[in-house]
Amino acid sequence: RESIEELILRLCATVPDYPKPGIVFRDLTPVFADGPALRAIVNALVEPFAGQFDAVAGIEARGFLLAAAAAYATGTGVVTVRKAGKLPRPVFTEKYELEYGESALELHQDDLQAGSRVLVLDDVLATGGTLAAASRLFAQAQVHIVGYGVVLELSELHGRSALPGHRVRSLLRLN
Ligand code: PRP
Ligand code: HPA
Repeated sequence: RESIEELILRLCATVPDYPKPGIVFRDLTPVFADGPALRAIVNALVEPFAGQFDAVAGIEARGFLLAAAAAYATGTGVVTVRKAGKLPRPVFTEKYELEYGESALELHQDDLQAGSRVLVLDDVLATGGTLAAASRLFAQAQVHIVGYGVVLELSELHGRSALPGHRVRSLLRLN
């Protein structure tokens, strides 16, 4: 039987020089497009944190897909961590550096109550800049992060070290 690592590796696409020369982009959209694979990755991301969270946060854009599925599967709520300027009401904002540029993430100030517990999901952990910014957003909101889940961890970029003190569940590690 195929392991979850083998499943992700088989379906994941590798795109050289995207979005910039020298970047080898791992595209997980074919994993999401496969029904059994989507169910398997969502279940595997949620499993270590079962019963420990009140909501699932998805990072724009591909994290939204995972977070909505995980929230539905566990009967919890879903919240969006969005690129700057997309949310209509008062937000917390955190700037961050990306493997290929700079950006900012925002979270509605009142989407989650202070003291609530959130599982944060995204497709890829690269430098960790994105999830570290998300961590600062939830700190501003006084929301407890129970952990992070990503489908793919690009180990060479040491994203884990940007998330000290947090549990990080990754389903496949590649260099
Ligand atoms: C990608 C990916 C993660 C982030 C990982 O999204 O989906 O969110 O980069 O990189 P990091 O660990 O180095 O921060 P991207 O910012 O390209 O945005 P998109 O989802 O809108 O394409
Ligand atoms: N794929 C998806 N998102 C990313 C990547 C990648 O290879 N690198 C940084 N963010």
